[in-house]
Amino acid sequence: MERYAHISGWGAYVPEQVVHNDDIAQVLPTSDEWIRERTGISCRRVAADHEHASTLGLRAARRALAVADLDPGRVELILVATSTPDYLVPCTACLIQDGLGARRAGACDILAACSGFVYGVAMGAGLIRAGLLNNALVVGTEVLSRVMDWTDRSTSILFGDGAGAVVLQASEEPGGFLGATLGADGSGADFISIRIGARLPFESSAEPISELLYMNGHEVFRFASRIMVQSTRDAARSAGLEVQDLDLLIPHQANARILQVAAKQLGLPAGKVYSNLDRYGNTSAASIPLAIVDAVDEGLIQPGDRIGMVAFGGGLTWAGCVVEWTYGPADRAWSVWRRSLHASRSGVARARSVLSRLEHRLEALEDRVRRRDLERNGRPARARARDAGE
Ligand code: UT7
Repeated sequence: MERYAHISGWGAYVPEQVVHNDDIAQVLPTSDEWIRERTGISCRRVAADHEHASTLGLRAARRALAVADLDPGRVELILVATSTPDYLVPCTACLIQDGLGARRAGACDILAACSGFVYGVAMGAGLIRAGLLNNALVVGTEVLSRVMDWTDRSTSILFGDGAGAVVLQASEEPGGFLGATLGADGSGADFISIRIGARLPFESSAEPISELLYMNGHEVFRFASRIMVQSTRDAARSAGLEVQDLDLLIPHQANARILQVAAKQLGLPAGKVYSNLDRYGNTSAASIPLAIVDAVDEGLIQPGDRIGMVAFGGGLTWAGCVVEWTYGPADRAWSVWRRSLHASRSGVARARSVLSRLEHRLEALEDRVRRRDLERNGRPARARARDAGE
């Protein structure tokens, strides 16, 4: 029996703080008019000091699992796409796994910049279709405000923070994920970078973390305008479709002008290319799942619709996929009883996670006591007790 991977849940979370173009124009030589005209952005969200990629992603993940009515204890894989992970190790996916209490899930991060979420959807769906998994949670989450230079007017106007997530689930019903295209060109690595890693030890780094993001906007613009068109065509082809068969294209929300160029070259009317860029700016790996959630909420995605997703980003990387949408909000309007059951199961899963952390600490303590005892007495306590009994 053939297996399919359907999107059964979706969720998003953005920080509360809104930074308007005028706020930036007060401290930098720019203007609301310039930013709107050249990018299409009106405002963006900025994470508070206590918020991180893991905490934003966790909130989005919880919402997606609630829509799917999937118990965190039954999640099998968590893929987190981010360019601003909390740490290199542990990965942000493990922090989200712990926060959810998804004790049966494998978890890892995807570092493919703005294309990471689409990479994640293709990987999760591919593993489900191959029969290796029954479900996967794919999260895109970013706190780009932490790594960008707020005195650089070419980048600080563009980026924002946020998170989005989808749940993919196996089914024998045809539909869901239909195909994907993934690509990379490392020869363009210098066009966008956040150079932090073992190659650049922190001690020798002259740059503070807040100035790590570098972008050659002009080159990225040229690359993006070409690759969005090519990837959309390739993704449609991989699904056995033409671009014109897509009901809605959800592109990476980078710059309104890039989206307009792509729409024109693809022959798609503006209404078929979704954008919420004005509200959130460019949220990198979070931009597509955030746009999915908004498009569903606005009634622009209906069951049976063929939805294209297409992204490009640092690396350089690009990715596109096509999904036949399965559920509308009405299908996911669970009864109060079912929602309460989901909430209590999620609570129990979270509590289990806390207990498991406590267990690690107790085990470590027990081990330390045992070793100290061995050092002091030369023999393990059990052997000494045996000797005393003889
Ligand atoms: O997800 C990551 C992918 N990143 C992207 O997709 C970014 C793609 N690139 C872009 O979106 C655009 O290149 C930018 C929005 C970053 C810049 O827009 P642009 O139309 O390419 O401007 P530009 O860099 O060619 O600069 C044009 C002029 C320059 O002034 P001069 O040299 O002509 O006097 C800039 O100094 O605009 C100036 N400028 C600004 N002026 C007011 C650059 N940034 C600003 C600004 N406000 N914020």
